[in-house]
Amino acid sequence: MAQAQQGQPRIMVLNTNTKREEGKKVQEENIKAAKMVADVIRTCLGPRAMLKMLMDPMGGIVMTSDGNAILREIMVKHPAAKSMIEIARTQDEEVGDGTTSVIVLAGEMLLESEQFLEQRMHPTVIIAAYLKALDDVVDIMEKEISTPVDLDDQELLSKVVKSCIGTKLIKKWEGLAVSIALDAVKKVRMDVGGRTEIDIKRYAKVEKVPGGEIEDSCVLKGVMVNKDVCHSKMPRYFKNPRILLLDCGLEYTKGESQTNVEISKAEDFTKLLEIEEDYIKNVCAHIIKAKPDVLFTEKGVSDLAQHYLQKAGITAIRRVRKSDNNRISRACGATIVNRAEEITEGDIGTGAGLFEVKKLGEEYFAFVTECTDPKACTILLRGPSQDLLKEVERNLVDAMNVVRNVIVNPRICPGGGASEIALSVRLKERARAIEGVQQWPYKAVAEALEVIPRTLIQNCGASTIRVLTEVRAKHSDKTNVNWGVDGNTGKPTDMSTLGIWEPLSVKLQTIKTAIETATLLLRIDAIVSGLKPGGAKE
Ligand SMILES: Nc1ncnc2c1ncn2[C@@H]1O[C@H](COP(=O)(O)OP(=O)(O)OP(=O)(O)O)[C@@H](O)[C@H]1O
Ligand SMILES: [Mg+2]
Repeated sequence: MAQAQQGQPRIMVLNTNTKREEGKKVQEENIKAAKMVADVIRTCLGPRAMLKMLMDPMGGIVMTSDGNAILREIMVKHPAAKSMIEIARTQDEEVGDGTTSVIVLAGEMLLESEQFLEQRMHPTVIIAAYLKALDDVVDIMEKEISTPVDLDDQELLSKVVKSCIGTKLIKKWEGLAVSIALDAVKKVRMDVGGRTEIDIKRYAKVEKVPGGEIEDSCVLKGVMVNKDVCHSKMPRYFKNPRILLLDCGLEYTKGESQTNVEISKAEDFTKLLEIEEDYIKNVCAHIIKAKPDVLFTEKGVSDLAQHYLQKAGITAIRRVRKSDNNRISRACGATIVNRAEEITEGDIGTGAGLFEVKKLGEEYFAFVTECTDPKACTILLRGPSQDLLKEVERNLVDAMNVVRNVIVNPRICPGGGASEIALSVRLKERARAIEGVQQWPYKAVAEALEVIPRTLIQNCGASTIRVLTEVRAKHSDKTNVNWGVDGNTGKPTDMSTLGIWEPLSVKLQTIKTAIETATLLLRIDAIVSGLKPGGAKE
């Protein structure tokens, strides 16, 4: 249309430098792009996962086997590949684990649909069948495959965490990692009004301090911030400290916008300084009246204020981050106060047993620990290098998320591809009852699910067809739901003896996201590129 209107740019529909592709070609390309992304991280699935080493434009390196962390670093051009990468992020934010699986599965779902597009089946038929299969997956998973967990059963809970950790670099320190994950989540768990709130991102912070050994890592019974006291004479150690948290500065606040003051006499200048001094003195007097031992503020502390506080024996730490302040507040029970005049006794936190400033490696850290009932914690990680610690952090965050998922939705399902094969067998059965062409794409979902066990077998170098057939045969008996693949040896194994369990919510989210993304990409029949940033409205 654009050519027909050349010379009359105002009614041109598309700009001359836009590129437009339509129809079957687009769908084929989307599938190819999705497969390409899936192929990148296929080898990162399971206990025999390989790591990838990525270099960012600044020259830093990332070493990881975490699906999301890999894809986050990769820059892709194709829009379909971009949305694939997006789902890894969604998965990571939603449940924290299963980011590799979701990509591999979504790629396979799309690949399966290729045959139907070739047979000129309309995408909406495929989509309808896929979504129907998804409904059935949820139903089967909830009713037939998953089992409830008793949250007091520590052994089972640690098995679930172990299954998650077993595919990661920290497998070597499995015992330590499991106890850290369980402990940290238990600390940040809050039951408010019958609702369980577990905010790992905000209240369980991982602090990485290179040096020492991984074995020195621990969950603090409280929190730690990367700060030193602001005046060298302030005490660095208190037993049972009274802690005051502020989010205002202890400095004379200058005018918000530019202020000009004209002074003609020397006395006026002195007066001006006096006003400043009086202000600080007044604020400090209010603070001193509240008798805190330690003061944390999000803003600055002027030299004068430091002087007054130090004379009163108060330790001040300035410019702590808002998030750190929130964590200290939850750990010791203090309330963050905005104005020094308004401090009340109830705002002072007395829940901590110890305040100290210690030097770890080259840096100083302030610890608020031995808290009676900390609702926030810091996980202190030690280890040989920053790159390794970063991967350990990612692994631990995955593990903590798994614990959270199980607590929020206490149901688990077998891992090692067992759930997928059980689903596949049952879906194939249900497919027989479906009439018309829809049954083929419905069955394709069942086929696609097998990509997880197949990849697990491939990654440990066993024979795919033989093992998969053996496992399938096991599943012909419906009581053998837990049979899957041992990811280390590649042999068919009962997951209940191997102890590989995954939270149901992770598995469901993985399959849901994968199918929904596949249907979304199938629904696209045109790609227009080169539009202006505002969108395609004109
Ligand atoms: N010992 C094992 N034997 C067989 N399969 C296992 C074993 N441990 C884990 N698995 C399986 O490996 C898969 C998880 O692999 P992995 O943790 O590498 O990827 P992910 O969880 O999908 O993504 P990520 O952890 O990178 O976010 C699950 O399907 C799980 O059941
Ligand atoms: Mg995992």
